[in-house]
Amino acid sequence: MEDGILVEWDNRYSVGIQLIDDQHKKLIEMTNTLYKGCLEGDEAARSYFMETIHETVDYVKYHFSAEEKLLGNVKYPELAEHKREHEDFVKKVLEEVGTFQSGKKFVPNVFVRFLKDWVLTHIAVQDKKYAQYILNLKKQGLLGNRIAGI
Ligand SMILES: [Fe+2]
Repeated sequence: MEDGILVEWDNRYSVGIQLIDDQHKKLIEMTNTLYKGCLEGDEAARSYFMETIHETVDYVKYHFSAEEKLLGNVKYPELAEHKREHEDFVKKVLEEVGTFQSGKKFVPNVFVRFLKDWVLTHIAVQDKKYAQYILNLKKQGLLGNRIAGI
């Protein structure tokens, strides 16, 4: 994209919980920031990645544990599967980061697109599954005390 924005938040991504929506927005923002770094040319992109990729990975992990805690609190029946998806993603990202740091071929642009595809799949597809579950709890008035403290 020419304007330097790769992913954009849309209200249809909302899972119905402000805290999680805010974290998803932050993930989108971080993806866009990495993307902007890629537009600076190969050398700049590489050094920019070195500086910021760990922050991104740490934030993804932080977000996943917040999400898992929430889903545990609301007794989400597909939590185990969701956790597995989280683990697979972290593994894949760490592999990519490891490849990058070992000096092997790493194309930041490809990585950012991978991140973008994942962010959108995670937010718009996987998290939408539990969003429906949460919406149902809300309708039944069962959500309030279950998310206290997250
Ligand atoms: Fe999420």
